[in-house]
Amino acid sequence: PSIPSALLAGSGSAWSAEQIAQYIVPCMKHYGICVKDRFLGARLGDRVLAEVESLNRSGRFRGGQLVSQRGIPSRSIRGDQIAWVEGREPGCEAIGMLMAHIDEAVMHSAANGQLGDYVINGRTKAMVACYPGHGTGYVRHVDNPHGDGRCITCIYYLNKDWNVKVHGGLLQIFPEGRNVMANIEPLFDRLLIFWSDRRNPHEVKPAFATRYAITVWYFDAKERAEAKEKYRLATGQKGIKVPVTQNRT
Ligand code: OGA
Ligand code: OGA
Ligand code: MN
Repeated sequence: PSIPSALLAGSGSAWSAEQIAQYIVPCMKHYGICVKDRFLGARLGDRVLAEVESLNRSGRFRGGQLVSQRGIPSRSIRGDQIAWVEGREPGCEAIGMLMAHIDEAVMHSAANGQLGDYVINGRTKAMVACYPGHGTGYVRHVDNPHGDGRCITCIYYLNKDWNVKVHGGLLQIFPEGRNVMANIEPLFDRLLIFWSDRRNPHEVKPAFATRYAITVWYFDAKERAEAKEKYRLATGQKGIKVPVTQNRT
């Protein structure tokens, strides 16, 4: 059985950060997964999409990397092309605004221990991902299976007129220990949030049209510090921490 999307989805537009947090907190506690539609609104969403399309046209995307499965050709695991963006680069201003909005929603949600013991003290840059539409997806995986410090995954989707029956590209999440799954369509202006650890194995079904998404992972201070001591951390971009936006005007 699948979790009815209505239970995961808040669709009202133009929510304040407070309202979004009030919605995210119970949803994450109950399901460990949360979807917010009309996250930015069409105007800013359109600007983000235009920037991503322009990054693609200018050849900024590279084959997605994997830390864990060295030796296995990445393309058989994940068929996306990615670009890491900080949000301050020329031509990435709207992506920067998206990051600030996600920061605000996540930091409000995690304030005062509302999301449990997590103390969020940073995040990755934005991973802009493009599945080119030749039938590639991303096999079932867990984002953070070994405690590398990433606790929350946020994915913002950019695909207009997406029909999963025609275009595929469905994200399926299989919450650990529960006989349910969540089917998430990668729809324009949709923000998805879920726990990055083993609670949420997930896979991207083969996509048959260009499929864009922007992902950011938030770090838990304690897990991150422990991981730094235990391992020499992966050298990839997912090991690089940047501060969350402060005092956005
Ligand atoms: C990932 C991932 C899901 C999606 O990049 O780790 O699982 O829907 N992406 O794009
Ligand atoms: C992953 C991962 C590391 C990197 O694909 O899940 O952690 O730096 N990759 O891209
Ligand atoms: Mn993933």
